Amino acid sequence: MSELGSGTWPPAPIKTERLVLRESESRDRAAFVELFASPEVGTFIGGARPRDDLERAVPETPGRRPGFFVIERDGAMIGMVTLDRREERPGRARPEAGLTELGYLFLPQAWGHGYAAEACTAILDWFAGTLPGAPVVLTTQSANDRAMRLAEKLGFTEVERFEEFGAEQWFGEWTP
Ligand SMILES: CC(C)(COP(=O)(O)OP(=O)(O)OC[C@H]1O[C@@H](n2cnc3c(N)ncnc32)[C@H](O)[C@@H]1OP(=O)(O)O)[C@@H](O)C(=O)NCCC(=O)NCCS
Repeated sequence: MSELGSGTWPPAPIKTERLVLRESESRDRAAFVELFASPEVGTFIGGARPRDDLERAVPETPGRRPGFFVIERDGAMIGMVTLDRREERPGRARPEAGLTELGYLFLPQAWGHGYAAEACTAILDWFAGTLPGAPVVLTTQSANDRAMRLAEKLGFTEVERFEEFGAEQWFGEWTP
């Protein structure tokens, strides 16, 4: 996102107890393909993409943009966390366009260890230090139990629920 592009991106790799949060590199490509080809990962985000398509379409170094963190554990990518500028969505009552939105996707074998929570906590801390006072929003299908539990654990509170893509969406906000 543009605010993160002006001198604050990329940050030096952020180290947590078990993880490294860093910019993407070409060695992450195979993990990107795994992530987007995984039916489990795709359950609440529009489904998995065919592996062949991904092998053709994923660039040599995917995810190279401000706000895009690769999450590494023991030297290998296990997931990604993103901070993106939220686009205007047709039919939405709240003027949320321009706010920063958090996203998280982890490989299924990395679920259930608290890695996503550990990574997102450190990234929200970093964001609060980079753009003090700026809120962060998050949308997830309310049926996505794991994503909902994580949002709650991180301190997001519900603003509203709405229908989109044929499902109920949960929209929450976090303030530092
Ligand atoms: C959403 C997602 C990132 C959540 O991953 P997760 O591993 O469940 O999340 P957390 O990091 O909070 O881990 C919590 C789990 O780790 C367990 N855990 C184990 N060791 C732990 C530790 N040391 N510290 C904290 N939690 C630990 C917790 O008990 C909890 O398990 P439970 O859910 O069975 O109760 C993951 O399910 C995912 O990538 N889903 C697909 C993509 C997606 O839908 N993203 C959201 C789009 S809006």
